[in-house]
Parts: sequence; structure tokens; C-alpha cells
Amino acid sequence: MTSHSHRGKFITFEGLDGCGKSTQLGKLAAALRSQGMIVVETREPGGTQAAEKIRQLLLNSRTSPLAPNTELALMFAARVQHIEQIIAPALEAGKIVLCDRFTDSSEAYQGGGRKLGSKPVLELHRILCGDLQPNLTILMDSDVVASVRRARRRNKAQAESASNHASDEGRFEKENRAFFERVREAYLTIARREPRRVKLVDARGTISQTHKKILELVQKTLKPAK
Ligand code: TMP
Repeated sequence: MTSHSHRGKFITFEGLDGCGKSTQLGKLAAALRSQGMIVVETREPGGTQAAEKIRQLLLNSRTSPLAPNTELALMFAARVQHIEQIIAPALEAGKIVLCDRFTDSSEAYQGGGRKLGSKPVLELHRILCGDLQPNLTILMDSDVVASVRRARRRNKAQAESASNHASDEGRFEKENRAFFERVREAYLTIARREPRRVKLVDARGTISQTHKKILELVQKTLKPAK
């Protein structure tokens, strides 16, 4: 399925851990629903029962080191299930799908951060995901140090408030600054390569300033083509 072969709209959010994309996704969903649209909110890795289990394995900081290709394969295993069960049916039904991360995350984190390069990621996407492309990708650009600090703080608080370790999602946040610099660079390279799909939004402003910018971009994408 390509972005043109379905009736719905597929909008993805991307950015560094702690950049505020989940908050923005929730605000956008509320705004679109208030205009009468049918919106599905989902996330990667995750979104289905099996993919959420893969998420736990991937993100729990107690998971022993994973080879970069294992990490990549698991991200795609979760993604294929998510597309089959949630994304494709919703798009075929004409709904708006808002997804917190998609294949650009694999290209940025495994391709850039883990140094696997873009090629295997794009090839796996073509083979396993039918090259499904979002209609719009909001790339929230933020400061590396501040974002990762925020993500670590949030994860620590979540892990401490839970009675078991299942909610610990800190494996990536243990990475060093150089890793996240590579992730950010890879994201910016994707945005330069695909300027029609990927829109860069400066995430350093207030929540409502950023929301306004995102809403404008989304309204343009949702406007029927003349
Ligand atoms: P998040 O749900 O808080 O954004 O965390 C998901 C983490 O998983 C984040 O550190 C990015 C990472 N990730 C990848 O490395 N590759 C991927 O393909 C996806 C979807 C996420």
C-alpha cells in the first residue's frame, strides 16, 4: 500500500526522546476530533498486543545488549504487525492515523545512531511494509541535551512509581550524547531528502506555539487537492 492507494491520511511524529512529540500528538488528535474527524492514535514500537510485547523487550533497560541488527529486525517485526492490524485497516476505512514514530525512527536510531546506515532500513521497509509512506511527517527538532535529560527524568519517575520493572523504558536513554547527535543528524538528512513529506518543526517554543505550527501543516495536508 502506498500513501495514495488508501482513503485515509497517515501522519507520523518523529524526533528525539523527550522532544514533546507525544504531547503534541495528543493535542492534534483532540483538535481534529473537535472538527468532527475520526482519528486513531497509535505508537511504535507498539500499537498491538504482540508489538507492545516486542516494545517491552526493546526498551527495557534490563534487556541484555542487543546486536544492532537484532534491534532493527525487532523494530520491523513490531511494525509489520502494527501495519497489518491497525494502520492499514484504519486508512482503508478513511480514518486519520496519528502515529508516534514510524520507519524514520529506524533510519535515525538504527541507521544513524547504531551506524547501520539507511540502506538496510529502506530495503526492509520496501520488502516488509510495502513501502507505505506517511502523507505527512512532523519532525520535531529539539536540543539534544535538554531532550534526553527530559526523557531520562520521565523514565526514572515512571520506573520508580511502578511496583515491577515492566514499565522501565530506559534502554535507549542510556546512550551517550554522540549517539543522539547521530540520530538528530540522520533525521535532518531525511528531511532534506524528502521535503514534501517531512516538515521540520522547531520544538523549542511553548507547547501551544508548537501546536499551532503543527495544526497549520496538518490542515494543508488534509485540504482536498484541487
Ligand atoms: P518513545 O515511545 O518514548 O518515543 O520511545 C521509543 C524508543 O524506541 C525511542 O528511544 C526510539 C526508539 N526507536 C528506535 O530506535 N527505532 C524505531 O524504529 C522506533 C519506532 C523507536
